[in-house]
Amino acid sequence: MSDWKIRRAPAMQCELQVPGDKSISHRAVILASMSNGPCVIKGFLPSEDCLCTVSAMRALGVNIETPEETTLVVHGRRQNFTAPAKEIDCGNSGTTMRLLAGFLAGQPFRTRLVGDASLSKRPMKRIIEPLTQMGAKITAEGAGDRPPLVIEGRELKPIHYYSPVASAQVKSAVLLAGMFAKGKTSVTEPTQSRDHTERMLEYFLVHPKKHELTVSIFGDITPESRDFQVPGDISSAAFWLVAAAAQPRSRLLITNVGLNNTRTGIFDVLIHMGAHVREIIQTEEAEPIGTVEIQGSKLHGIEIKGSVIPNVIDELPILAVAGALAQGRTVIGNAGELRVKETDRLAAIATNLRAMGGQVTETEDGLEIVGGAPLHGARLQSFGDHRIAMAFAIAGLFAEGETTITDTACVNTSYPGFYKVLEQIMREPRQPQIPVISQLPPHAP
Ligand code: S3P
Repeated sequence: MSDWKIRRAPAMQCELQVPGDKSISHRAVILASMSNGPCVIKGFLPSEDCLCTVSAMRALGVNIETPEETTLVVHGRRQNFTAPAKEIDCGNSGTTMRLLAGFLAGQPFRTRLVGDASLSKRPMKRIIEPLTQMGAKITAEGAGDRPPLVIEGRELKPIHYYSPVASAQVKSAVLLAGMFAKGKTSVTEPTQSRDHTERMLEYFLVHPKKHELTVSIFGDITPESRDFQVPGDISSAAFWLVAAAAQPRSRLLITNVGLNNTRTGIFDVLIHMGAHVREIIQTEEAEPIGTVEIQGSKLHGIEIKGSVIPNVIDELPILAVAGALAQGRTVIGNAGELRVKETDRLAAIATNLRAMGGQVTETEDGLEIVGGAPLHGARLQSFGDHRIAMAFAIAGLFAEGETTITDTACVNTSYPGFYKVLEQIMREPRQPQIPVISQLPPHAP
């Protein structure tokens, strides 16, 4: 079903799990493919974006079995990849295209990477520049350094790259290329972006060095094959966290979720807005995994800008919705990157909030929202962007009358079961007797 119908729902009282982390699933497939043997990946996110990375690695000669939808057995090939028989389709996935570009820069063959209409509009200069400095030959066939990309891998030389953007995709592309260069490759970023690649390299015994905002690796090294557990995706949990946070008397427990502190900025933002949030880390191997509990209250507006932005970059659409539900002004700044996501998210958020009766002003790199005005149901577009569709589905839970979100197939790129959970919340919101976090054991046996 492509259109979603949403109506107001009362306070949530429930316990949920969310599917595997998208960023971590991509990286697990790529690093396991580069390793020296079989790796079992559990909790993999079987969404369209991550399946593009699986198909890409298969096209490069990697044997990947799928005994279950969320379990992969990846047979690492060390450095022995084969040229793909045809172009590789990255679909809607910027992470697939940018990370693969780094990986392919060090392969002794030519690959053409293509994407869908949205990905074909996204900027690639940010990865072309450092990879070219390392010696790869990359041609962008689209105007203004946009996809398709033709990558002619070469023997690479190590560099120290000072990235102008705080982007985990750029950092990861350079580090993956650095795996095939002899010597030390470093990336310095302007503010901390998510650190999954560094953590996973450490877990696969590559031992990157981290000093403040610089990560370095010594290339020409093969990751050691290991099994890997992907945690639930905090960016998917974010939709339910805001649904609960903005509703006094709501209480929600999300279990088995990733609690990496380069991703949990949403907790700080919601706490500043007035919500009660508690987290507990229960296991920590490659990534911290645990439970988060949230209790709703009357939220108030705040400023969201500066160094927290990379930490909440994927959560800003739903945090803008939280701003519209809060009393007073919420200002989002330094978020110009939202203009080059799956759609121009600042424009999409402003259009949809206004259609629901929200008060919002778009700035060059953010939004100013005057919250508290009652929202009404409306017919809203997803703009082909999964996070816009899901953010406004949550807004619909708080609106008077029916909200329709059109063109929702895009949600399969990151959260295939989202609407089923939403229907359950609209149908039976109350499930008393959920455990509270203080009753949970701090560490799993
Ligand atoms: C991602 C990094 C972020 C994020 C994207 C996933 C990753 O993009 O928005 O959804 O997996 O590295 P940028 O690197 O462009 O900030």
